[in-house]
Amino acid sequence: MLLHMSTWSEIEQYLKRCRSIVIPIGSNEQHGPIGLLGTDWMCPEIIAHHAQKTADILVGPTFNIGMAQHHIGFAGTITLRPSTFIAAIGDWVRSLAAHGFEKIFFLNGHGGNIASIEAAFSELYAEASFARRPAGFALKLCNWWDLEGVAALANKQFPTGHGVHATPSEIAVTQWAYPEAIKTADYSPKIANSGPIREAHDFRLRFPDGRMGSDPAQATPEKGGELVMLAAQSLVRELDLFTCESAPA
Ligand code: NI
Repeated sequence: MLLHMSTWSEIEQYLKRCRSIVIPIGSNEQHGPIGLLGTDWMCPEIIAHHAQKTADILVGPTFNIGMAQHHIGFAGTITLRPSTFIAAIGDWVRSLAAHGFEKIFFLNGHGGNIASIEAAFSELYAEASFARRPAGFALKLCNWWDLEGVAALANKQFPTGHGVHATPSEIAVTQWAYPEAIKTADYSPKIANSGPIREAHDFRLRFPDGRMGSDPAQATPEKGGELVMLAAQSLVRELDLFTCESAPA
């Protein structure tokens, strides 16, 4: 079930049987010579949207702009600074909690978001801690590539040249969902450089075509489909565990 394709009364009914929701969260940023700018929000959205076709789970709208300051040297990237991103996550959670959602599961598609999402969670929990009251909700962050079995499958599919940005696995997932948008390009070296992430100027000099350690030409829609099927199953299990997690006595 998709929140944005439902009416308020359908969501009110849903809350009578379940208090959990999945929020895909990502980033709109350059993904090298063949990767779509939306890759990091599309991957968690594709997986969550597939999962809700197979199980009675609720998926909220995708939070599609994240913390990508280091990619702003490439056209089309849109970023929030960490403080803005943390504030926005806070208001998404407060809105959902106001309706009675108690388990809010963020399925993340961008490594650069992790620190800010964790900080946002701490800010939200701190409000309850200082007031000496229960928060009334629990928050979970899970990167789609950390869902059970996904990294092992990606390692098998791409034993070399997976890298950490503009990876063949994330590009394969978007190719499966949007085959009409598959791109090709000549690039060299075949496997991109690796290195640290700092400000956008430094990033562009170190990683001139935007890739980090990857050879995205290995991506195929078929490999993407395998990743989506496995990730969607694992997401349903992880969400179920989170939903059923018992409260402290
Ligand atoms: Ni990415």
